[in-house]
Amino acid sequence: MMLDNARRLITPSARSDVPPFMVMDVMAAAARIEAAGGRVVHMEVGQPAAPAPRSARDAARAALDLGDVGYTAALGIPALRERIARSYADSHGVTVEPERVVVTTGSSAGFILAFLAMFEPGDRVAVACPGYPPYRHILTALGCEPVMIEISAATNWSITVDALLETHRRTPLKGVLVASPANPTGTMMRPEALTELISAAEGEGIRFISDEIYHRLDYAFPAETAAKFSDKALIINSFSKYFCMTGWRVGWMVVPDALVRPVERLQQNLAISVPTLSQVAAAAAFDGVVEMDEVKHGYEENRRILVEGLPKAGIGKFLPVDGAFYLYADVSHFTDDSLDFAKRMLEQAGVAATPGIDFDPVEGKHFIRFSYARSAADMREAVDRIGTWLKRG
Ligand SMILES: Cc1ncc(COP(=O)(O)O)c(C=O)c1O
Repeated sequence: MMLDNARRLITPSARSDVPPFMVMDVMAAAARIEAAGGRVVHMEVGQPAAPAPRSARDAARAALDLGDVGYTAALGIPALRERIARSYADSHGVTVEPERVVVTTGSSAGFILAFLAMFEPGDRVAVACPGYPPYRHILTALGCEPVMIEISAATNWSITVDALLETHRRTPLKGVLVASPANPTGTMMRPEALTELISAAEGEGIRFISDEIYHRLDYAFPAETAAKFSDKALIINSFSKYFCMTGWRVGWMVVPDALVRPVERLQQNLAISVPTLSQVAAAAAFDGVVEMDEVKHGYEENRRILVEGLPKAGIGKFLPVDGAFYLYADVSHFTDDSLDFAKRMLEQAGVAATPGIDFDPVEGKHFIRFSYARSAADMREAVDRIGTWLKRG
């Protein structure tokens, strides 16, 4: 009895039992190689190598010097909410009222707020497989049920209307979450496909969440925002990727009118507000678009090097390299254990990439994700190293 009580005091909750990120194993192994003086080309990490725009860093420095770093309004600094709202008119010709914009601690905190505001425990929410693992892990931790809908070349690497409705008929869904461009696939949905999916979902009472974190990093065709097609969809975005501000932890949501106040109450209680210096920097980041477009052109060059170079190196099968900074390669002709393949590629070729099983527990064993967010020189070196390694057998 005493033993039972003692155990109860230290037993973690069942809901905290979410899987780890396996890429962390690869990163730890890469760090060991580097500590021993070895060279590693990093293509495992999904973050830009470039710093935040100069305008953002200057604004943060000026605010810091003033020292006025108190809490802000829970929904965010008004000037930032207005600037974000204006960006929808500038980039997409869509009117978004600043009142519907909520500043969040990275898009990661946006997911928590959105899921809490939209869903009850037990609600089923569809996500694509392969997909970004925290979607399903956050849903699980909150007591919701992620429902993985398999995507493939046959579905244009996105959730189709048919797949959504078929899943919904089997057991009703309360929500669906899509990303375009997506992680890990780097693929995008055509605007028509996005509109159709939104109408089909909303027609069935399924709430639509659009993760637009890789917007502005589109190469195949312009990415369209779900805000253009519905004012009931919830949009999640972030300064992490295009604006190169991962560590600043600042993002935003555009929420339907009816969710503004619930999200405000949740944010008040969960976080009070988002870090103030990061919000100040984010508002100024929009003045750094020319600088960030240069960074984007760098990714385009990296993409060209990989799309041309990897087939010559022996990796010739990959998904359409539409956007974000990911190339998702099919390595099934080499392995059916992508974790082992990633480890060997790291140890023997000095190239770190992410095993697909992080994103897709089944088919992911045949895939590797390359991130091309670093320099062109790194990309050329990676292609050479992989080519030499695969030829060696
Ligand atoms: C698809 C996707 N959504 C959301 C995030 C979370 O980013 P952040 O919390 O930095 O905004 C990431 C990070 O890699 C991502 O790839």
